[in-house]
Amino acid sequence: MRRFEGKAVLILGGNAGIGAAAAQLFANEGARLVITGRNETTLGDIAAQTGAHAIRADMGVLTESRDAITAAADHLGGIDVLFVNAGVGGFAMVPDVTEDFWDGIHDVNLKGAFFAMQAAVPLMRDGGSIVVTGSIGSVAAVPGNVAYAAAKAGLRAVARIVGKELLPRRIRVNMVSPGPTDTEIFKRDASPEEIQGMRDMLSGVVPMGRMGTSEEIAHAALFLASDEASFINGVDLYVDGGCVEL
Ligand SMILES: NC(=O)c1ccc[n+]([C@@H]2O[C@H](COP(=O)([O-])OP(=O)(O)OC[C@H]3O[C@@H](n4cnc5c(N)ncnc54)[C@H](OP(=O)(O)O)[C@@H]3O)[C@@H](O)[C@H]2O)c1
Repeated sequence: MRRFEGKAVLILGGNAGIGAAAAQLFANEGARLVITGRNETTLGDIAAQTGAHAIRADMGVLTESRDAITAAADHLGGIDVLFVNAGVGGFAMVPDVTEDFWDGIHDVNLKGAFFAMQAAVPLMRDGGSIVVTGSIGSVAAVPGNVAYAAAKAGLRAVARIVGKELLPRRIRVNMVSPGPTDTEIFKRDASPEEIQGMRDMLSGVVPMGRMGTSEEIAHAALFLASDEASFINGVDLYVDGGCVEL
């Protein structure tokens, strides 16, 4: 399939995990791509693999993020598809949540994502598509996940309202919400034993008995971004091996 032939696609957080998998799939289907992220090395690696143009920018630093989005739109000549995927994780039980911990998650996952959309929307073509990466954490009562869950639940509300406001411009706004997915997000700063322990624990909570792959989430994101989903607007698609519904 070449669903994105010639389309201008901007992936915020496109240099690892789900975003990197999406970059590869968009490239395979003919998209012209810009990816962002903070890590110069992985940005270079994914750019080389996919042919994407990479821009280093921290989505939690609003001026930097806005400048990157403007530069991306200039490079692409407008934006057809915006994938707001960048996000950070972190666990702390309620008594242990500090203001810095809360802000570290919310500055990227909610505030950064909102202001990125605000900056990108005027640069998008009418009839385009926005996909936002949420999380099943927004609807699950997982101990220790309060800051992250609140940010992603807030992002769900943001996506609904942005989608409603963009109806006159025929820009669809949908979310893809992963369940436990085998990416870097839970591996950074962990030992191999800790990583295996997390894998076993997370696989155990998924009805299908395993974690998802980045590609499985990215496939859903591409579907929502594509014309195949032309009558799908405002949904939050759980890609979670049955965690929420089974
Ligand atoms: N993996 C899961 O189990 C899971 C479950 C539910 C939801 N999610 C969501 O899925 C999305 C992708 O995560 P992932 O699992 O693929 O994790 P990942 O492998 O850690 O990738 C995260 C991506 O976001 C980028 N990013 C993080 N903070 C950023 C910032 N401040 N500015 C710009 N880019 C930033 C990262 O690049 P840099 O590090 O270079 O900045 C990377 O490209 C996130 O929104 C996450 O919350 C993941």
